Amino acid sequence: MDNNIKIDWKYTGISDKEIYAYSEKVKKVHKELNKNIEDKDNYTGWIDLPINYEKREFEKIKKIAKKVNTDSDVLIVIGIGGSYLGARAVIDALTNKYERKSTEIIYVGNNLNPTYINEIIDYVSDKDISINVISKSGKTTEPAIAFRIFRDLMENKYGIDEARNRIFVTTTKRKGALYKIAMQEKYVKLSIPENIGGRYSVLTAVGLLPMCVAGINIDDIMAGAKCAAETYNDDNIKHNECYKYAVVRNILYANDKNIEILASYEPKLFYFAEWWKQLFGESEGKEHLGIFPSSVTYTTDLHSLGQYVQEGRRNLFETVINVENPNSDIVIGYDEEDLDELNYIAGKKLSYVNKKAMEGTIQAHVDGDVPNIVINVDYLDEIVMGQLIYFFEKACAMSGMLFGINPFDQPGVEKYKSNMYELLGKNK
Ligand code: PA5
Repeated sequence: MDNNIKIDWKYTGISDKEIYAYSEKVKKVHKELNKNIEDKDNYTGWIDLPINYEKREFEKIKKIAKKVNTDSDVLIVIGIGGSYLGARAVIDALTNKYERKSTEIIYVGNNLNPTYINEIIDYVSDKDISINVISKSGKTTEPAIAFRIFRDLMENKYGIDEARNRIFVTTTKRKGALYKIAMQEKYVKLSIPENIGGRYSVLTAVGLLPMCVAGINIDDIMAGAKCAAETYNDDNIKHNECYKYAVVRNILYANDKNIEILASYEPKLFYFAEWWKQLFGESEGKEHLGIFPSSVTYTTDLHSLGQYVQEGRRNLFETVINVENPNSDIVIGYDEEDLDELNYIAGKKLSYVNKKAMEGTIQAHVDGDVPNIVINVDYLDEIVMGQLIYFFEKACAMSGMLFGINPFDQPGVEKYKSNMYELLGKNK
């Protein structure tokens, strides 16, 4: 299988010499990353996951998905952060929301807003539903509250026994409140390996069950990720574009470019950017260091943030995901009167205009001192999504370790939690 990711470095303004100066550091981090992958405290189980994943668990995922497809109009996915963003990224990228061919996926437990939940409760009132509640720790407040609400709803709608058949729990084995509930209520369980942290867990049951229910080919997702795992396992930066991306980010950061904008001209990648921001933000933003990850969808945001990117503070760089071929195209028609003055592009495809907008924008931003890294893929499919996911996970780990921080913990998020618990009067 070919690796689809081709990167254009010419707009970064960084020389090979500067990049190769990191060769030894990269080798050291590579060795560190690959040391004791099995160790649960290292949180590096995602590195060889596409090669060594649990095949039995994989078959169980497919079986559950088949059942849900047969008896449910909607699957309610309850989870927050790494427990839903990866699935949503892939599902939005690869399915047509106006022409659903499979069970609809709805996400809850990712905020505490009652209106958001009430609207969903109304929407599903006349539909058959199943639930996939996902939490690695099994004790996160947002999904726990949503689960309490939707479990109640399910039991009222179907009775306890049938509700039980429609609730699927994804959590760590033998740990946490959610595991306890699942054991007591005899819910079907899928497990999250202990050595894989939340934001690196999209290729486990966390992401794969919702994807499979949405009609995504998860064999191909894993095959794409496997290809990337093999491609990006070289400790020589000259041959490893993933590590090169990590190094280029570090060099740009050292040159005061401390905000990275993930840009794409494909609205279907909106949630991929949300996943990417969580991956990099939670991994790198520590010890008052790290690149702030941000995102835009162009050309939409050229009429909004584009002004800032062109002329605001010069602490930005962009990483553009260029999808060479959209899933479908439109030819712009000819109009006799030409009142809208568009005949100069009559007969051209919309994708061609989009491409020219991209080329013009990259040039303008680079001229305006915003370096660009351009990541090209031919099209969006399962294989490519698997490759992109793995590419960014590996790059994030390398990049964070080059910064000298631990890319696998998230001590900062505890602060809001302890304040909230105190304000809510939670027992210690
Ligand atoms: O990346 C992470 O670890 C976090 O974003 C978690 O995914 C998020 O906080 C949800 O945690 P949990 O799955 O334990 O409910």
